Amino acid sequence: MPHLRLLLLAVVGAALSTTGLAGEAAPPGNPSHGQRIFMNGINRVPACHNCHGKDAMGDDALGTPRLAGQAEAYILKQLGDFAANRREDKTMFVMNSNARGMREQDWRDVAAYVSGLEYRRVGLSKLEKVKEYGETMGLRQRGRQLFLHGDPAREIPPCYTCHGYNGRGLPPAYPMTGGQRFVYLVNQLHKWRAGSRRNDPEGVMRRVAKNLTHQDIRDVATFLTSAPRGRCEESCRQFLCCVW
Ligand code: HEC
Ligand code: HEC
Repeated sequence: MPHLRLLLLAVVGAALSTTGLAGEAAPPGNPSHGQRIFMNGINRVPACHNCHGKDAMGDDALGTPRLAGQAEAYILKQLGDFAANRREDKTMFVMNSNARGMREQDWRDVAAYVSGLEYRRVGLSKLEKVKEYGETMGLRQRGRQLFLHGDPAREIPPCYTCHGYNGRGLPPAYPMTGGQRFVYLVNQLHKWRAGSRRNDPEGVMRRVAKNLTHQDIRDVATFLTSAPRGRCEESCRQFLCCVW
């Protein structure tokens, strides 16, 4: 059945080319066009700043993530995953249609713009206010312990091995989680745990999250949301030097 095989190859090829991760020949993102999309929207897609904030720092009241300073390749992958329904936005039910309403080049442009925004400490979650959004702040020290060491007895691996010092991310695959919005972090960890977010390569985050308790999730989110990106000096390669 040569036709069927050809058809399958074509389908797989099309899937690969839309999975984002900017095929080698793809032109790089144009951040100034990305900024226009972010501020004004494009076609029927509303301006991103309405929900993600004008500095792209996210919003706890809406449950939106910070995009500023996030790894470009990771953002592209998420837009591709939303467009193909590999990830569903069950928080506001908009990101799937937003991603589908843009061309792949628009994804690259907007990813280039937000990832290039400077890392800022202002505008991060105010933990004493999260009660307003139905959440309780956790224990920072316990969260830090979990982030650095995991809990082998409960088969929880240390998060930093993939997410880097203080969660500043290891591009292209591992997103920045340090300095991310508290409510968003808590939501995503619950989604991985429940299996309702399923776009993690090889199910890696679902395996990590399945043994986390609600308290663990609060604790690690409390640590991460307030973790500074930090500087790892040349003379200080050991991770303990770089985390506080
Ligand atoms: C109406 C509100 C709304 C608008 C407008 C919006 N977003 Fe979102 N976005 C969300 C929400 C809510 C989530 C979190 C979904 C979830 O909880 O899984 C999200 C998640 C994302 C993520 C995933 C980030 C991560 O860390 O995984 C990306 C990337 C993103 N949005 C980009 C954009 C871009 C680019 C635009 C503009 C073209 C945009 N969004 C417009 C509400 C919005
Ligand atoms: C073996 C590697 C690995 C380990 C260990 C790991 N993660 Fe992840 N994590 C990932 C990958 C890969 C993704 C991105 C998934 C995707 O492509 O959508 C991710 C995504 C996330 C996200 C979603 C980020 C966003 O912007 O939506 C959060 C939150 C997160 N991880 C928290 C943690 C926490 C907390 C721990 C430790 C308890 C941990 N991770 C351990 C690999 C890992």
